[in-house]
Amino acid sequence: MKETISLNLKNLAGFIPFEEIAALAQQSAMHLDSLNNGTGAGSDMLGWMSLPNDVMPQFSNIEKAAGHLRSISDTTVIVGIGGSYLGAKAVIEALSHTFSSILKKVHHEVLFAGHNIDEDYMADLLDVLDERDYSIVVISKSGVTTEPAIAFRILKSHLENKVGKEKAAERIIAITSFNKGNLRQVARNNGYGMFEIPDNIGGRFSVLTPVGLLPIALAGLNIRELVEGARAMEAITRHGKNASDNPALLYAAARNLTLRSGRSTEILVGFNPRLHYFFEWWKQLFGESEGKEGKGIFPASVDFTTDLHSLGQYIQDGQRILFETFVSVVRPQKKVNIPAESDNSDELNYLAGEHLSEVNHRAELGTTLAHCDGNVPVMTISIPELNEYYLGQLIYFFEIACAVSGYTLGVDPFHQPGVEAYKNNMFALLNKPGFEAAGEKLRERLK
Ligand code: PA5
Repeated sequence: MKETISLNLKNLAGFIPFEEIAALAQQSAMHLDSLNNGTGAGSDMLGWMSLPNDVMPQFSNIEKAAGHLRSISDTTVIVGIGGSYLGAKAVIEALSHTFSSILKKVHHEVLFAGHNIDEDYMADLLDVLDERDYSIVVISKSGVTTEPAIAFRILKSHLENKVGKEKAAERIIAITSFNKGNLRQVARNNGYGMFEIPDNIGGRFSVLTPVGLLPIALAGLNIRELVEGARAMEAITRHGKNASDNPALLYAAARNLTLRSGRSTEILVGFNPRLHYFFEWWKQLFGESEGKEGKGIFPASVDFTTDLHSLGQYIQDGQRILFETFVSVVRPQKKVNIPAESDNSDELNYLAGEHLSEVNHRAELGTTLAHCDGNVPVMTISIPELNEYYLGQLIYFFEIACAVSGYTLGVDPFHQPGVEAYKNNMFALLNKPGFEAAGEKLRERLK
């Protein structure tokens, strides 16, 4: 039987009485009304809410496109940044073999580009692609974002040199707005396959559109199960006005009250390294949605037990500005036993026969208690297994919680005006037409 991810607030009790959390969560139910009725801030960006249903008619086209690229190439490079990159990366990393590329057992490898402008990264990627038979999926809602646009120009030229312009066009798919931006024009001019990003869905809320689903399908994962999981979570959270049955309302309330008590950084904590990029996706979702007008909770993440040997000291003993949200995976997918040894010189025989997951679980419980003792509020989200269905639940859970939490903070969670500042300076320093005067001023400041 399918289960549901769950939220445990027991370890917050010493910091914030549960009644207070329940009361704010109940009050926040009005934010669900604003979201469902489109009466809150950013109401023109709510297309993500009904995606679990709305995207279903696109399944076969997405799977067909993935099947086509998988049949004519051994690798696909996904070009995109921010919301046009992190959702796909998060799901693929969480559900793929950790060492698949070393094992060389993957049927089709998915690589990423356009999420940085580093020359060495691109040069290394081109070295790999020299040896590969590859396709490209370029993703940009605006169609004008500099990082993916530059990466795409380089990769397109590399692919055209390798297989010719005509064959390259058969291997390139663009995912973009059909109403604005340069990418749609480039795609139309060259006859690339295309998928649309609806105007009413922001990048960081777009993982359940072709933006996330096509790369995820290319990696050989089940997009129907992912969306099914999201649909199950939509049924629980979107109209769940009774706060005690709606984990998204409780999570949004708990983190806002923790912020009000002086804890301005939330650390997402995992004990499964495969979740690393899922946490990166979560950081973008909450960071870009809430961090504005001098408000917001700073979203950070750690991979334990690795980071217990680097950041653990600070979390246990440093400034008390932190709270933690553990993401706990209940059932591991694989089993590895610790062997017994007749010569017990490493003194580990007390663990002989234990599964690593059991040791990891005890580490998780021990860390929870230690951090509570160190005056760090902790809550826990449990996910039954790492698979498409439960990740789909987790995605929708965080999206709706983020929207409610943003409204609770008093910000519009659906825009990102602050992202423009660095871009304008970069354009000015690069002498982009129209930015010359600003460039002069910046160069003065840099002297
Ligand atoms: O969430 C967002 O809107 C942003 O992070 C965008 O996804 C990111 O800036 C990339 O934008 P685009 O898809 O227009 O290239």
